[in-house]
Amino acid sequence: MSGKRASWSGSLAFVLAAAASAIGLGNLWRFPYLAAQYGGGMFIAIYLALVVTLGFTLMVTEIAVGRKTQQSPLTAYALIQRRWGFVGLLGTLIPLFITPYYCVIGGWVLYYLKAYACMAFTGVNIMGEAAANSGEVFGALISAPFAPFGYGMLFILACAAVIVLGVKNGIEKSNLVMMPILFLMALGLAVYVVTIPGTFDGIKYYLIPNLDCVSTPDGRFSLALLAKTVLGATGQMFYSLSLAMGIMITYGSYMKKTDSIERCVRRIEVFDTLIAFIAGLMIIPVVYLFAVKTGTPVKEAMNAGPGLMFVTLPKVFAMFGAAGAWIGLAFFLLVLFAAATSAISLYEACVSSLCDFLKLERKTATTFMATLIMFLSSFSALGYGAWGHIKLFGMQFLDFFDFFTNSVMMPIVAIATCVFIGWFTGPRLVIEECEAEGAKFRVKRFYSFMVKYLAPLLLTALLVSEVCRALGIKGWSI
Ligand code: PHE
Repeated sequence: MSGKRASWSGSLAFVLAAAASAIGLGNLWRFPYLAAQYGGGMFIAIYLALVVTLGFTLMVTEIAVGRKTQQSPLTAYALIQRRWGFVGLLGTLIPLFITPYYCVIGGWVLYYLKAYACMAFTGVNIMGEAAANSGEVFGALISAPFAPFGYGMLFILACAAVIVLGVKNGIEKSNLVMMPILFLMALGLAVYVVTIPGTFDGIKYYLIPNLDCVSTPDGRFSLALLAKTVLGATGQMFYSLSLAMGIMITYGSYMKKTDSIERCVRRIEVFDTLIAFIAGLMIIPVVYLFAVKTGTPVKEAMNAGPGLMFVTLPKVFAMFGAAGAWIGLAFFLLVLFAAATSAISLYEACVSSLCDFLKLERKTATTFMATLIMFLSSFSALGYGAWGHIKLFGMQFLDFFDFFTNSVMMPIVAIATCVFIGWFTGPRLVIEECEAEGAKFRVKRFYSFMVKYLAPLLLTALLVSEVCRALGIKGWSI
């Protein structure tokens, strides 16, 4: 990249951008599910403890590496120690693998947004009454010959339009529009949900701690179950804070030396967790109500991922009659913004790496990346339809990329980063960066302990549990 490195206009812009990346589909479609299935308030407490310890350590490390080197992941590690450059390469492949399939999911969201907008403004249900209630819409959408590809392309181009405008004019400004709307929509929907008569039981179900997640069916405490819950929460926290995806290194490299890393990280954590918590309030009580009304067991009705977002929730919205169209519209707008801001951060990690490595102009790098992402996303877009017969290790493309990045590559990169900083450069490298320009870093000893011992240990356990789950070895993960 020619000229001086881009930078955020201030610490708030940085916090907003990092929070915008962190707040994504994980907050909306996985956190509520995990909390509902695994102990309600108990899960939330474990999750919070992990955010302020492990999450804090990893995020501080990545941001400090980015800001110290003024580089994106591809070149940052090698600049500190040449031998460790391979971690940077791995860390760059992760966003390159995730962005294409994340954009395909963004495309699905676009379709649902269009459907609810039509329903709200014209009264026409393009999904078809019967299909909307049975969940067939989703199956038809993802296996259609062209639609998933077309909507995915649209989503990629929209993100590219933001990236090409640069850090201040593109990412920062788009966040200033999308994030407040996202927050207001989430808050509005949650307030609406908790005031619906009959949702109180669902709220209790979500918030009251129960010991299900740590006890056997006959009520005895089980250490193995506690370990599984902690690992489940670790995986969620890790993904939700956008760690080990190269994003925090990239965004950290645009941060000013005068801003306190410690304070910014605390704020990002608060934003991300708050939205996850609000998402739970917005989703669990209505799904609970729906389960009661339809006579479905709550644990069965409360699913995660695309099944929750594109199948269960549309059925729940249909329960509200005419108001359902507006609720669906508000909900999918919120989902779209959450997905778009996360996709933009991933995309930026790729573009920035390319700029730093090949000294390309932003425009050239963005165009090249858009082409590459479009090409790669076609596998995920068509993987449930036209190319449904092609499987990678028994998985469809999208599922394979999702599994391989989240469960294998990300823990490996995070472990390698901790070992590198904890044992090779020494935690001092990060601590000094956090104390640049006289800023305070109050938890030096805690940080050193975490990065050297506890973080690699927990992350290794996470990696083992995820791989065991994929191999069908039961009993290791939730
Ligand atoms: N933190 C994001 C989430 O919760 C994860 C993510 C970030 C995924 C960026 C893709 C891109 O959904």
